[in-house]
This record gives sequence, C-alpha cells and structure tokens, in this order.
Amino acid sequence: MELREAIGRRRSMRFLRPYRPVEPDKIQRMLEAARLASHWGNVNSLRAVVVFRDSAPKEVLDVLTAPIAGYQIRLAPVVIVWYLDTAAVDEQADRLRELVEVGALGVGEGKREALERQLLPIFETIKEHLKQPGLGEVDCGQGIAQATLMAFEQGLGTCCLSSPNLEQIRQGLGLPESCRVLLLQTVGYPAESPEAGGQRPRQPFEKLFHLNRYGNPFPRDPAVVEELKRDKMIQDPAPAPWREAELEFLKRALDIKGHGLL
Ligand SMILES: Cc1cc2nc3c(=O)[nH]c(=O)nc-3n(C[C@H](O)[C@H](O)[C@H](O)COP(=O)(O)O)c2cc1C
Repeated sequence: MELREAIGRRRSMRFLRPYRPVEPDKIQRMLEAARLASHWGNVNSLRAVVVFRDSAPKEVLDVLTAPIAGYQIRLAPVVIVWYLDTAAVDEQADRLRELVEVGALGVGEGKREALERQLLPIFETIKEHLKQPGLGEVDCGQGIAQATLMAFEQGLGTCCLSSPNLEQIRQGLGLPESCRVLLLQTVGYPAESPEAGGQRPRQPFEKLFHLNRYGNPFPRDPAVVEELKRDKMIQDPAPAPWREAELEFLKRALDIKGHGLL
C-alpha cells in the first residue's frame, strides 16, 4: 500500500474481533518498524511488553486497565504496553560513538577526538535532564506511529489508550524503576468496517500551522488538497451516514455494556 493511502486510511479501531488471535510475526513487524524510527542521539529508549490475551498470566491481564473505553482491553487479543527506559540515556556516549563510526554524525579527521573531548562532556552534564519527560517521549511517539502504520498495512486494527494506572502497570509487568510506561495499544482484527465511519475530525490546517512566525497561517494550496484526496490520504470525513447503525450493531455483537465511553 502507498504511504499516502496508509496514512489516510488508518483509524483508531475500537472494535476488535475477540475470537481471532493475532499472529506473532505481525506483531514482530510492528516492533521492527518501531525500532527503525528516528531517535535523538540514537538512544533507542522506546521499549514494549507485548501481552497476548491467550497466554499471559491472569495477574498481568488484571493490571492492564484503562478508564476511558476500557472495554477495548477486554476485547483485544493483544495489548502492547509501550514504555520508555530512561536507562538508555546512560549509554548515550556509546550510541554517539556508533553514529560517528558509521559516518552518520560529524565530518573530517578530528571528529572522533572532538566527540570525546567536546560533545560527550556536554551530554554528560545534561544526562539527568535528558531522562525527564520531553525529547524521549517524542522519540517514542515516532516509533509507536511507525508500528501503528505497520499494523494497519497488515490488516490489523489498533487503538492507543492512556491510563492513570501507569505506575501499577509498570510494577505489574515487573519493569525496573528506570522505566516510564507510556500507553497501552490494543491490537487485533477489526470488527468494524475499514472506514470506521470516516476520517476523524481534525482542527483546521490554518489554526495548526504557521509561516515564518506565529499568527501567520501557513497557506494551504487547494491543488495539494485535491492531490492528497486523489491519493486517498485525505478521505471522506466522519460520520458516514450509516455509522450510528454500525455502532449499534457492534455494541450488540460484542456485548458492550452501556455507552462504551468508560
Ligand atoms: C497518545 C494517545 C493516547 C490516546 N488515549 C486514548 C484514551 O485514553 N482513550 C481513548 O478512548 N482513546 C485514546 N486515544 C485515541 C484517540 O482518541 C483517537 O486517536 C482519536 O479519536 C482520533 O481518531 P483516529 O486515531 O482514528 O484518527 C489516544 C490516542 C493517542 C495517539
């Protein structure tokens, strides 16, 4: 599938087929995609525990909770617990050395010496700062986004869920204290139609993006919008006329209690 179409057709899939297991090789491809994402200083702080409903111990399944649309966890054959290991920053110097060695960072004969004498001491002084929430989370977001697109390309549906219980989840999975759990991603075969009711609303382009300085909207060329519509990146906006009927069907088919918001 073309990249533009994959970006355009991806949806958060809240309704998964609980009876259909997910093949481990498909999850592996998601993880491979996450691993290849760009990271500051190449630290690779994004990590994951993949929980398969069929084989995970009950105490692990019990600790995976989300307060919003929590039924999704019950329905998902797989939950990927994405986390960031701040200890990756402790190996920062080696990661930078690798980048210099492979020609990805620095130029000229003196680059190795300059790395040791100038750049690494700077990183050493800001090491604890770099473990704080910020840049690392951006890395992780990039990796999770690539995994999400890989899942979609393989016919899988995913949905990210945050939780106020991230610390309990960390402990329940046995992760070291250096780790910050970021979010739960449910994975499975979608029970809803591929459109899932249409492309979800977004804030206006001009409100989000600026040219040269804040307050000057980045001009949106209608010809580019038309091109991206043709390439299936910009799609029919939600809701499709039949969406409410589809939701009613899914609610009954999957035995979702109440309104499904909590
Ligand atoms: C980082 C992140 C956290 C999210 N957390 C939740 C959540 O806690 N509960 C939930 O119902 N949806 C959650 N979502 C899903 C969003 O609500 C969803 O992406 C949004 O409705 C847009 O739909 P789309 O992904 O199909 O474009 C989260 C998405 C992201 C990227």
